[in-house]
Amino acid sequence: MHAISLTVNGRDHDLVIEARRTLADMLRHDLGYTGTHLGCEHGICGACTVLMDAAPVRACLVFGVQADGTEVRTVEGLADAEQLSDLQQSFSDHHALQCGFCTPGFVISVTAFLWEHPDPTDGQIRDALSGNLCRCTGYQGILAAVRAAADSISTAAQETKHTQEPR
Ligand code: FES
Ligand code: FES
Repeated sequence: MHAISLTVNGRDHDLVIEARRTLADMLRHDLGYTGTHLGCEHGICGACTVLMDAAPVRACLVFGVQADGTEVRTVEGLADAEQLSDLQQSFSDHHALQCGFCTPGFVISVTAFLWEHPDPTDGQIRDALSGNLCRCTGYQGILAAVRAAADSISTAAQETKHTQEPR
């Protein structure tokens, strides 16, 4: 057994876990963050994706002990109180989910992608989505949601830049 400490969605946690406990099982069963879903449990589907120190990881392939000292963010940590993130709202607006099982993984993966690529091409969006599997939507709604969220982030960034330019 190993004693570890980590932050999840801004909240400190100390716990004692077995070395073989995965990050996904630790988040879901020990800490109650059940928004992290488990599909394939071997790194293929992306449903379990979380952010560890701002980088997306497959929580089914990471041991909980590896998260010692890190900051983890799950889908529960993306919304601001009752306000969905822009990307979450865009998923809702563009009907980018049906059963919703894959959605936490998509939203987490795309959140990290948009930090790195605030003005992505459609091709970059398709590449970014290729690591997550959805059995329901046919992907068009997801593509539309990410495109709209990216456009809105890019427009907001340009407006901020204009207001900060010397007149
Ligand atoms: S459950 Fe982790 S990648 Fe599928
Ligand atoms: S919405 Fe059902 S698996 Fe994606």
